[in-house]
Amino acid sequence: MMSSFPLTGAGIGLRTPHVRQVRDERPAVPWLEVHSENYYADGGPALAALVRIRADYPLSLHGVGMSLGSTDPLDRTHLGKLARLIARTEPALVSEHLCWSGVGGRALNDLLPLPYTEEALAHVCARVAEVQDFLGRELLVENVSSYLAFADATIPEWEFVAAVTRRTGCKLLCDVNNIHVNAVNHGFDADAYLAALPRDAVAEIHLAGFQATDTCLIDTHGAPVAPEVWALYRRAIARFGPVPTLIEWDTDIPPLATLLAEAATAQRILETRDALAA
Ligand SMILES: [Fe+2]
Repeated sequence: MMSSFPLTGAGIGLRTPHVRQVRDERPAVPWLEVHSENYYADGGPALAALVRIRADYPLSLHGVGMSLGSTDPLDRTHLGKLARLIARTEPALVSEHLCWSGVGGRALNDLLPLPYTEEALAHVCARVAEVQDFLGRELLVENVSSYLAFADATIPEWEFVAAVTRRTGCKLLCDVNNIHVNAVNHGFDADAYLAALPRDAVAEIHLAGFQATDTCLIDTHGAPVAPEVWALYRRAIARFGPVPTLIEWDTDIPPLATLLAEAATAQRILETRDALAA
């Protein structure tokens, strides 16, 4: 029997170094998220381990390779593999990044920001609708971090993100760390960003660590959540309610206990909000 939906509380991103430990020790964490593309093989030990773990935990599938905003046609082979993984694992949520990561058939292996224009908005909305039709379910789209902006952008990032959910009915994966990183890098108000997002659309939150350089903040997913991001997260929870929250850590991956401690901090914040609302 698979665990019931929907997701609640603070989960962790399950990465390869922790798979065996999670499978064997079944730590007390309410849900897990994996990168979908790591499980696209039709069989093999990685998929078998995930299916085993899925029997004990609700799951979210998070994609990094759909290139949702690209001008290349959507890759139907990629979408087909995602559909098969969804059928195998019955995830509570399926998400992708609001970005592009390749063009002209070349993969650039990065999550690149879109030009925030009406043309790009219409383009990406049509693609989100196409993916939702293909999968027969709702998609979550995630706001990405960035270090440069397009000179011909005409729409603030937060309005662009909000418009995508309004036009397509998709939900938002609100990465609070990415909002903080972009607010510092581009000089905007992170709270104005949160205020622009439709309350009902935010279905998941991401938290991660960044690295500060002399010129900008880099979204490394390789450090604890920063104090200013925890503070912004508290304000996000005050606005959006107790949204399922995920700790992401992808480089310099620490012991599992460190991730669980970060998730416990998020869980306390979620519960404080519950107590205030009661
Ligand atoms: Fe994220």
